[in-house]
Amino acid sequence: MSSHGDPIPMISRACGPLSGTADVPGDKSISHRSLILGALAVGETTIEGLLEGQDVLDTAAAMRAFGAEVTDHGGKSWSVRGVGVGGFAEPDQVIDCGNSGTGVRLIMGAMATAPISATFSGDASLNGRPMARVTDPLALFGAQAVGRAGGRLPMTIVGSQMPVPVRYHVPVPSAQVKSAVLLAGLNVPGKTVVIEAEATRDHTERMLAGFGAEIAVEDTEEGRQITLTGQPELVPQHIVVPRDPSSAAFPVCAALIVPGSDVLVPGIGLNPTRAGLFTTLREMGADLTYENTREEGGEPVADLRARFSPDLKGIEVPPARAASMIDEYPVLSVVASYAQGQTVMRGVRELRVKESDRIDAMATGLRANGIKVEDGEDWWTVTGRGHGNVQGGATCQSHLDHRIAMSFLILGMAAQSPVRVDDGGPIATSFPIFETLMADLGAQVSRANG
Ligand code: S3P
Repeated sequence: MSSHGDPIPMISRACGPLSGTADVPGDKSISHRSLILGALAVGETTIEGLLEGQDVLDTAAAMRAFGAEVTDHGGKSWSVRGVGVGGFAEPDQVIDCGNSGTGVRLIMGAMATAPISATFSGDASLNGRPMARVTDPLALFGAQAVGRAGGRLPMTIVGSQMPVPVRYHVPVPSAQVKSAVLLAGLNVPGKTVVIEAEATRDHTERMLAGFGAEIAVEDTEEGRQITLTGQPELVPQHIVVPRDPSSAAFPVCAALIVPGSDVLVPGIGLNPTRAGLFTTLREMGADLTYENTREEGGEPVADLRARFSPDLKGIEVPPARAASMIDEYPVLSVVASYAQGQTVMRGVRELRVKESDRIDAMATGLRANGIKVEDGEDWWTVTGRGHGNVQGGATCQSHLDHRIAMSFLILGMAAQSPVRVDDGGPIATSFPIFETLMADLGAQVSRANG
Protein backbone atom coordinates (compact mmCIF):
# COMPACT_ATOMS: atom_id res chain seq x y z
CA MET A 1 0.00 0.00 0.00
CA SER A 2 1.06 3.50 -0.74
CA SER A 3 1.38 5.79 2.28
CA HIS A 4 -1.65 7.88 1.36
CA GLY A 5 -3.70 5.76 -1.03
CA ASP A 6 -3.71 2.81 -3.38
CA PRO A 7 -0.41 1.38 -4.64
CA ILE A 8 1.00 3.03 -7.76
CA PRO A 9 2.98 0.43 -9.77
CA MET A 10 5.73 2.02 -11.84
CA ILE A 11 8.15 0.91 -14.54
CA SER A 12 11.37 2.23 -16.01
CA ARG A 13 13.23 1.03 -19.08
CA ALA A 14 16.51 1.68 -20.82
CA CYS A 15 16.57 5.07 -22.51
CA GLY A 16 18.75 7.27 -24.69
CA PRO A 17 21.07 9.86 -23.18
CA LEU A 18 19.68 11.96 -20.33
CA SER A 19 20.29 15.63 -20.88
CA GLY A 20 19.17 19.01 -19.63
CA THR A 21 18.73 20.70 -16.28
CA ALA A 22 17.16 18.99 -13.27
CA ASP A 23 15.60 21.45 -10.82
CA VAL A 24 15.16 19.22 -7.78
CA PRO A 25 12.95 20.32 -4.85
CA GLY A 26 13.99 21.88 -1.54
CA ASP A 27 15.87 20.03 1.17
CA LYS A 28 13.59 17.85 3.27
CA SER A 29 15.62 18.09 6.49
CA ILE A 30 15.84 21.87 6.28
CA SER A 31 12.16 22.19 5.33
CA HIS A 32 10.98 20.32 8.46
CA ARG A 33 13.25 22.43 10.66
CA SER A 34 12.11 25.72 9.05
CA LEU A 35 8.50 24.97 9.93
CA ILE A 36 9.24 23.78 13.47
CA LEU A 37 11.60 26.61 14.42
CA GLY A 38 9.27 29.08 12.70
CA ALA A 39 6.48 27.78 14.93
CA LEU A 40 8.65 28.33 18.02
CA ALA A 41 9.70 31.88 17.12
CA VAL A 42 7.78 35.00 18.09
CA GLY A 43 6.42 36.58 14.90
CA GLU A 44 6.41 35.67 11.24
CA THR A 45 9.03 33.50 9.55
CA THR A 46 8.98 33.34 5.76
CA ILE A 47 10.26 30.34 3.84
CA GLU A 48 11.19 30.14 0.17
CA GLY A 49 11.84 26.88 -1.61
CA LEU A 50 10.10 24.72 0.98
CA LEU A 51 9.81 21.09 -0.12
CA GLU A 52 6.10 20.52 -0.73
CA GLY A 53 6.39 16.76 -0.25
CA GLN A 54 3.95 14.88 1.92
CA ASP A 55 6.41 14.48 4.81
CA VAL A 56 6.82 18.24 5.09
CA LEU A 57 3.11 18.94 4.54
CA ASP A 58 2.41 16.63 7.48
CA THR A 59 4.80 18.67 9.63
CA ALA A 60 3.08 21.88 8.49
CA ALA A 61 -0.28 20.42 9.58
CA ALA A 62 1.24 19.38 12.90
CA MET A 63 2.54 22.91 13.56
CA ARG A 64 -0.99 24.23 12.95
CA ALA A 65 -2.33 21.69 15.44
CA PHE A 66 0.11 23.02 18.05
CA GLY A 67 -1.17 26.57 17.49
CA ALA A 68 1.12 28.11 14.85
CA GLU A 69 -0.36 29.84 11.81
CA VAL A 70 1.16 28.20 8.75
CA THR A 71 0.25 29.69 5.36
CA ASP A 72 1.04 28.48 1.85
CA HIS A 73 1.28 31.59 -0.36
CA GLY A 74 1.71 29.55 -3.56
CA GLY A 75 4.83 29.52 -5.68
CA LYS A 76 6.74 27.79 -2.88
CA SER A 77 6.55 30.76 -0.53
CA TRP A 78 5.29 29.91 2.95
CA SER A 79 4.97 31.77 6.22
CA VAL A 80 4.77 30.61 9.81
CA ARG A 81 3.48 32.83 12.61
CA GLY A 82 5.07 31.25 15.67
CA VAL A 83 3.81 30.94 19.22
CA GLY A 84 7.19 31.31 20.95
CA VAL A 85 9.32 28.80 22.86
CA GLY A 86 7.05 27.04 25.38
CA GLY A 87 3.94 28.42 23.65
CA PHE A 88 2.65 25.25 21.97
CA ALA A 89 -1.08 24.64 22.53
CA GLU A 90 -2.33 21.12 23.25
CA PRO A 91 -3.57 19.57 19.99
CA ASP A 92 -7.16 18.31 20.02
CA GLN A 93 -6.44 15.65 17.41
CA VAL A 94 -3.94 12.87 16.80
CA ILE A 95 -0.80 14.19 15.08
CA ASP A 96 -0.43 12.12 11.89
CA CYS A 97 3.17 12.28 10.73
CA GLY A 98 2.53 10.00 7.77
CA ASN A 99 5.78 8.38 6.63
CA SER A 100 8.14 10.80 8.34
CA GLY A 101 10.58 9.75 11.05
CA THR A 102 12.15 13.19 10.99
CA GLY A 103 8.77 14.87 11.42
CA VAL A 104 7.60 12.78 14.35
CA ARG A 105 10.90 12.67 16.22
CA LEU A 106 11.62 16.39 15.94
CA ILE A 107 8.07 17.36 16.89
CA MET A 108 8.11 15.02 19.88
CA GLY A 109 11.25 16.80 21.04
CA ALA A 110 9.78 20.25 20.43
CA MET A 111 6.67 19.53 22.56
CA ALA A 112 8.19 17.32 25.28
CA THR A 113 9.14 20.17 27.59
CA ALA A 114 5.83 22.03 27.27
CA PRO A 115 3.03 21.27 29.79
CA ILE A 116 0.84 19.57 27.18
CA SER A 117 0.18 16.08 25.84
CA ALA A 118 0.02 14.90 22.26
CA THR A 119 -0.63 11.59 20.53
CA PHE A 120 1.39 10.71 17.44
CA SER A 121 0.72 8.21 14.69
CA GLY A 122 1.84 7.46 11.16
CA ASP A 123 1.60 5.01 8.29
CA ALA A 124 2.53 1.33 8.54
CA SER A 125 6.22 2.12 7.93
CA LEU A 126 6.45 4.83 10.59
CA ASN A 127 4.38 2.86 13.10
CA GLY A 128 6.98 0.08 12.85
CA ARG A 129 10.00 2.29 13.54
CA PRO A 130 11.78 2.58 16.92
CA MET A 131 10.88 5.63 19.00
CA ALA A 132 12.72 4.73 22.22
CA ARG A 133 15.84 6.35 20.79
CA VAL A 134 13.95 9.65 21.19
CA THR A 135 11.69 8.96 24.18
CA ASP A 136 14.64 7.72 26.32
CA PRO A 137 16.38 11.12 26.30
CA LEU A 138 13.05 12.97 26.52
CA ALA A 139 12.34 11.05 29.74
CA LEU A 140 15.47 12.65 31.23
CA PHE A 141 13.76 16.04 30.80
CA GLY A 142 10.75 14.64 32.71
CA ALA A 143 8.51 13.80 29.72
CA GLN A 144 6.57 10.52 29.68
CA ALA A 145 5.82 8.32 26.69
CA VAL A 146 3.12 5.68 26.39
CA GLY A 147 3.15 3.77 23.14
CA ARG A 148 2.85 0.29 21.72
CA ALA A 149 5.19 -2.55 22.62
CA GLY A 150 8.79 -1.98 21.58
CA GLY A 151 8.37 1.80 21.77
CA ARG A 152 6.29 2.05 18.60
CA LEU A 153 3.64 4.54 17.46
CA PRO A 154 0.84 5.33 18.06
CA MET A 155 2.28 6.98 21.13
CA THR A 156 1.29 9.70 23.56
CA ILE A 157 3.91 12.06 24.94
CA VAL A 158 3.06 13.81 28.20
CA GLY A 159 5.23 16.90 28.28
CA SER A 160 7.22 17.74 31.38
CA GLN A 161 5.66 20.30 33.75
CA MET A 162 9.02 21.22 35.25
CA PRO A 163 11.71 20.28 32.74
CA VAL A 164 15.31 20.03 33.85
CA PRO A 165 18.35 20.44 31.58
CA VAL A 166 20.00 17.32 30.28
CA ARG A 167 23.48 16.19 29.26
CA TYR A 168 23.07 13.42 26.70
CA HIS A 169 25.45 11.22 24.70
CA VAL A 170 23.57 10.19 21.58
CA PRO A 171 24.09 6.39 21.42
CA VAL A 172 23.42 6.03 17.68
CA PRO A 173 24.57 8.32 14.86
CA SER A 174 21.23 10.11 14.42
CA ALA A 175 20.52 13.73 13.61
CA GLN A 176 16.89 13.10 14.47
CA VAL A 177 17.75 12.10 18.04
CA LYS A 178 20.24 14.95 18.44
CA SER A 179 17.68 17.41 17.10
CA ALA A 180 14.87 16.10 19.32
CA VAL A 181 17.04 16.67 22.41
CA LEU A 182 18.07 20.16 21.27
CA LEU A 183 14.48 21.16 20.50
CA ALA A 184 13.37 19.85 23.91
CA GLY A 185 16.21 21.83 25.49
CA LEU A 186 14.77 25.05 24.08
CA ASN A 187 12.07 25.25 26.75
CA VAL A 188 14.31 24.32 29.68
CA PRO A 189 16.03 26.76 32.02
CA GLY A 190 19.80 26.26 31.90
CA LYS A 191 22.11 24.52 29.47
CA THR A 192 21.27 21.33 27.58
CA VAL A 193 24.32 19.46 26.29
CA VAL A 194 24.28 16.88 23.49
CA ILE A 195 27.38 14.88 22.57
CA GLU A 196 27.61 12.86 19.39
CA ALA A 197 30.50 10.47 18.72
CA GLU A 198 30.16 11.00 14.95
CA ALA A 199 29.06 14.23 13.33
CA THR A 200 25.59 13.95 11.79
CA ARG A 201 23.78 16.55 9.70
CA ASP A 202 23.96 19.86 11.54
CA HIS A 203 21.00 21.79 10.12
CA THR A 204 19.33 22.10 13.54
CA GLU A 205 22.42 23.67 15.09
CA ARG A 206 22.87 26.06 12.16
CA MET A 207 19.24 27.07 12.14
CA LEU A 208 18.99 27.50 15.92
CA ALA A 209 21.93 29.91 15.70
CA GLY A 210 20.19 31.70 12.80
CA PHE A 211 17.02 32.14 14.91
CA GLY A 212 19.14 33.75 17.64
CA ALA A 213 19.54 30.91 20.14
CA GLU A 214 22.77 30.72 22.13
CA ILE A 215 24.38 27.52 20.87
CA ALA A 216 28.02 26.47 21.02
CA VAL A 217 29.66 23.56 19.22
CA GLU A 218 33.07 22.19 20.17
CA ASP A 219 35.08 19.10 19.40
CA THR A 220 35.96 17.24 22.60
CA GLU A 221 37.52 13.88 23.41
CA GLU A 222 34.02 12.43 23.71
CA GLY A 223 32.97 13.76 20.34
CA ARG A 224 31.13 16.76 18.98
CA GLN A 225 29.58 18.61 21.91
CA ILE A 226 26.67 21.00 21.45
CA THR A 227 25.59 23.30 24.28
CA LEU A 228 22.26 25.09 24.03
CA THR A 229 21.13 27.77 26.47
CA GLY A 230 17.42 27.29 27.13
CA GLN A 231 14.47 29.65 26.95
CA PRO A 232 15.69 32.02 24.26
CA GLU A 233 13.30 34.26 22.38
CA LEU A 234 13.64 32.97 18.84
CA VAL A 235 13.66 35.75 16.25
CA PRO A 236 11.68 35.04 13.06
CA GLN A 237 13.76 34.53 9.92
CA HIS A 238 13.57 34.66 6.15
CA ILE A 239 14.74 31.20 5.10
CA VAL A 240 15.78 30.15 1.61
CA VAL A 241 15.84 26.36 1.53
CA PRO A 242 18.66 24.92 -0.62
CA ARG A 243 17.79 22.08 -3.00
CA ASP A 244 18.06 18.61 -1.54
CA PRO A 245 21.32 16.69 -2.16
CA SER A 246 19.44 13.48 -1.33
CA SER A 247 17.02 14.16 -4.19
CA ALA A 248 19.80 15.39 -6.50
CA ALA A 249 21.36 11.96 -6.02
CA PHE A 250 18.75 10.37 -8.33
CA PRO A 251 19.27 12.40 -11.54
CA VAL A 252 23.03 12.48 -10.83
CA CYS A 253 23.27 8.70 -10.51
CA ALA A 254 21.00 8.16 -13.51
CA ALA A 255 23.28 10.36 -15.65
CA LEU A 256 26.34 8.34 -14.59
CA ILE A 257 24.85 5.02 -15.77
CA VAL A 258 22.88 6.01 -18.90
CA PRO A 259 25.27 6.13 -21.91
CA GLY A 260 25.85 9.58 -23.41
CA SER A 261 24.17 11.52 -20.58
CA ASP A 262 25.06 15.05 -19.49
CA VAL A 263 22.84 16.54 -16.77
CA LEU A 264 23.11 19.77 -14.76
CA VAL A 265 21.56 19.77 -11.27
CA PRO A 266 21.74 23.37 -10.02
CA GLY A 267 21.70 24.88 -6.54
CA ILE A 268 22.40 21.76 -4.48
CA GLY A 269 23.15 22.05 -0.76
CA LEU A 270 26.63 20.64 -0.17
CA ASN A 271 26.82 20.84 3.60
CA PRO A 272 29.74 18.49 4.42
CA THR A 273 27.45 16.50 6.74
CA ARG A 274 25.34 15.63 3.66
CA ALA A 275 27.64 15.41 0.65
CA GLY A 276 29.31 12.01 1.21
CA LEU A 277 27.68 10.36 -1.80
CA PHE A 278 29.24 12.78 -4.26
CA THR A 279 32.74 12.19 -2.82
CA THR A 280 32.14 8.44 -3.06
CA LEU A 281 30.94 8.62 -6.66
CA ARG A 282 34.03 10.59 -7.66
CA GLU A 283 36.21 7.95 -6.00
CA MET A 284 34.40 5.37 -8.13
CA GLY A 285 35.43 7.26 -11.25
CA ALA A 286 32.27 9.28 -11.81
CA ASP A 287 32.44 12.28 -14.12
CA LEU A 288 30.82 14.56 -11.58
CA THR A 289 31.88 18.18 -11.17
CA TYR A 290 30.88 21.07 -8.93
CA GLU A 291 30.30 24.34 -10.79
CA ASN A 292 29.60 27.82 -9.45
CA THR A 293 30.37 26.85 -5.83
CA ARG A 294 28.93 29.48 -3.47
CA GLU A 295 27.25 30.01 -0.09
CA GLU A 296 23.50 30.60 0.25
CA GLY A 297 21.67 31.11 3.54
CA GLY A 298 24.59 29.80 5.57
CA GLU A 299 24.89 26.55 3.57
CA PRO A 300 27.49 25.71 0.87
CA VAL A 301 25.80 25.27 -2.51
CA ALA A 302 26.98 24.28 -6.02
CA ASP A 303 25.63 23.27 -9.42
CA LEU A 304 26.38 19.60 -10.06
CA ARG A 305 27.21 18.37 -13.54
CA ALA A 306 27.02 14.62 -14.04
CA ARG A 307 28.03 12.86 -17.25
CA PHE A 308 27.93 9.24 -18.32
CA SER A 309 30.89 7.54 -16.70
CA PRO A 310 32.09 4.50 -18.67
CA ASP A 311 34.79 3.42 -16.20
CA LEU A 312 33.06 3.18 -12.84
CA LYS A 313 34.82 0.87 -10.40
CA GLY A 314 33.70 -0.63 -7.09
CA ILE A 315 35.30 0.78 -3.94
CA GLU A 316 35.24 0.33 -0.18
CA VAL A 317 33.21 3.22 1.24
CA PRO A 318 34.91 4.50 4.42
CA PRO A 319 32.56 3.76 7.36
CA ALA A 320 33.39 7.20 8.81
CA ARG A 321 31.56 8.67 5.84
CA ALA A 322 28.32 6.80 6.52
CA ALA A 323 26.49 9.57 8.39
CA SER A 324 27.10 12.05 5.57
CA MET A 325 25.45 9.79 2.99
CA ILE A 326 23.15 7.63 5.06
CA ASP A 327 20.11 8.18 2.82
CA GLU A 328 22.11 7.62 -0.36
CA TYR A 329 23.25 3.99 0.08
CA PRO A 330 20.25 2.62 -1.84
CA VAL A 331 21.03 4.64 -4.97
CA LEU A 332 24.77 4.08 -4.49
CA SER A 333 24.09 0.35 -4.65
CA VAL A 334 22.45 0.93 -8.04
CA VAL A 335 25.53 2.75 -9.38
CA ALA A 336 27.67 -0.02 -7.86
CA SER A 337 25.69 -2.54 -9.94
CA TYR A 338 26.92 -0.79 -13.11
CA ALA A 339 30.54 -0.56 -11.87
CA GLN A 340 33.31 -3.10 -12.33
CA GLY A 341 34.19 -4.97 -9.14
CA GLN A 342 32.88 -4.98 -5.64
CA THR A 343 31.55 -2.03 -3.62
CA VAL A 344 31.80 -2.60 0.13
CA MET A 345 29.58 -0.65 2.52
CA ARG A 346 30.30 -1.08 6.23
CA GLY A 347 29.14 0.61 9.43
CA VAL A 348 25.63 1.03 8.07
CA ARG A 349 23.46 -0.65 10.72
CA GLU A 350 21.20 2.42 10.76
CA LEU A 351 19.98 1.51 7.26
CA ARG A 352 17.98 -1.27 8.83
CA VAL A 353 15.68 1.14 10.73
CA LYS A 354 14.86 3.69 8.04
CA GLU A 355 11.49 3.91 6.23
CA SER A 356 12.25 0.25 5.46
CA ASP A 357 15.14 -2.11 6.20
CA ARG A 358 17.06 -0.58 3.32
CA ILE A 359 19.80 -3.22 3.15
CA ASP A 360 17.23 -5.98 2.93
CA ALA A 361 14.97 -4.11 0.49
CA MET A 362 17.83 -3.29 -1.91
CA ALA A 363 19.56 -6.66 -1.57
CA THR A 364 16.35 -8.54 -2.40
CA GLY A 365 15.48 -6.34 -5.38
CA LEU A 366 19.01 -6.19 -6.80
CA ARG A 367 19.37 -9.98 -6.58
CA ALA A 368 16.06 -10.39 -8.41
CA ASN A 369 17.55 -8.20 -11.16
CA GLY A 370 20.66 -10.37 -11.48
CA ILE A 371 23.10 -8.55 -9.20
CA LYS A 372 25.22 -10.33 -6.60
CA VAL A 373 24.69 -8.85 -3.14
CA GLU A 374 25.95 -10.11 0.20
CA ASP A 375 24.89 -8.66 3.51
CA GLY A 376 25.28 -8.83 7.28
CA GLU A 377 23.85 -6.87 10.20
CA ASP A 378 25.81 -3.68 9.52
CA TRP A 379 27.41 -4.22 6.12
CA TRP A 380 26.67 -5.18 2.54
CA THR A 381 28.54 -5.64 -0.69
CA VAL A 382 27.42 -5.27 -4.28
CA THR A 383 29.38 -6.91 -7.09
CA GLY A 384 28.97 -4.80 -10.19
CA ARG A 385 28.39 -6.24 -13.65
CA GLY A 386 29.64 -3.25 -15.62
CA HIS A 387 27.74 -1.14 -18.15
CA GLY A 388 25.43 -3.03 -20.49
CA ASN A 389 25.39 -6.15 -18.34
CA VAL A 390 22.70 -5.43 -15.75
CA GLN A 391 19.88 -7.81 -16.46
CA GLY A 392 16.85 -6.10 -14.86
CA GLY A 393 13.42 -7.56 -15.57
CA ALA A 394 12.16 -7.95 -12.00
CA THR A 395 9.41 -6.30 -9.99
CA CYS A 396 10.81 -4.82 -6.77
CA GLN A 397 8.99 -3.98 -3.58
CA SER A 398 9.32 -0.45 -2.30
CA HIS A 399 8.17 -1.27 1.27
CA LEU A 400 6.57 2.18 1.69
CA ASP A 401 10.03 3.68 1.16
CA HIS A 402 10.45 6.54 -1.33
CA ARG A 403 14.20 6.06 -1.73
CA ILE A 404 13.84 2.35 -2.44
CA ALA A 405 11.20 3.04 -5.11
CA MET A 406 13.31 5.73 -6.82
CA SER A 407 16.50 3.65 -6.64
CA PHE A 408 14.95 0.71 -8.49
CA LEU A 409 13.49 3.04 -11.11
CA ILE A 410 17.01 4.42 -11.69
CA LEU A 411 18.30 0.83 -11.99
CA GLY A 412 15.86 0.23 -14.84
CA MET A 413 17.14 3.21 -16.85
CA ALA A 414 20.16 1.29 -18.17
CA ALA A 415 19.14 -2.34 -17.62
CA GLN A 416 18.63 -4.94 -20.38
CA SER A 417 14.97 -5.43 -19.37
CA PRO A 418 12.60 -2.97 -17.67
CA VAL A 419 12.47 -2.78 -13.88
CA ARG A 420 9.16 -2.40 -12.06
CA VAL A 421 8.32 -1.28 -8.56
CA ASP A 422 5.13 -2.41 -6.87
CA ASP A 423 4.36 1.04 -5.44
CA GLY A 424 5.82 4.39 -6.40
CA GLY A 425 3.31 6.23 -4.19
CA PRO A 426 5.82 6.93 -1.40
CA ILE A 427 7.98 8.98 -3.81
CA ALA A 428 5.56 11.85 -3.11
CA THR A 429 6.88 12.08 0.46
CA SER A 430 10.18 13.64 -0.65
CA PHE A 431 10.30 14.11 -4.43
CA PRO A 432 6.77 14.65 -5.81
CA ILE A 433 8.07 15.73 -9.24
CA PHE A 434 10.47 12.78 -9.67
CA GLU A 435 8.55 11.17 -12.56
CA THR A 436 8.15 14.36 -14.63
CA LEU A 437 11.65 15.61 -13.86
CA MET A 438 13.24 12.32 -14.97
CA ALA A 439 10.98 12.12 -18.04
CA ASP A 440 11.95 15.69 -19.02
CA LEU A 441 15.61 14.59 -18.99
CA GLY A 442 14.72 11.77 -21.37
CA ALA A 443 14.07 8.87 -19.02
CA GLN A 444 11.36 6.33 -19.78
CA VAL A 445 9.69 6.11 -16.43
CA SER A 446 5.96 5.90 -15.96
CA ARG A 447 3.01 4.42 -14.13
CA ALA A 448 2.77 0.75 -15.01
CA ASN A 449 -1.01 0.29 -14.93
CA GLY A 450 -1.72 0.37 -18.67
C1 S3P B 1 17.33 13.17 9.05
C2 S3P B 1 18.23 12.36 9.68
C3 S3P B 1 18.55 11.00 9.22
C4 S3P B 1 18.07 10.77 7.79
C5 S3P B 1 16.68 11.28 7.57
C6 S3P B 1 16.63 12.78 7.82
C7 S3P B 1 17.09 14.52 9.61
O1 S3P B 1 17.90 10.07 10.05
O2 S3P B 1 18.12 9.39 7.49
O3 S3P B 1 16.25 11.03 6.26
O4 S3P B 1 16.50 15.37 8.91
O5 S3P B 1 17.48 14.76 10.76
P1 S3P B 1 18.56 9.55 11.44
O6 S3P B 1 18.57 10.67 12.38
O7 S3P B 1 17.68 8.43 11.89
O8 S3P B 1 19.93 9.07 11.05
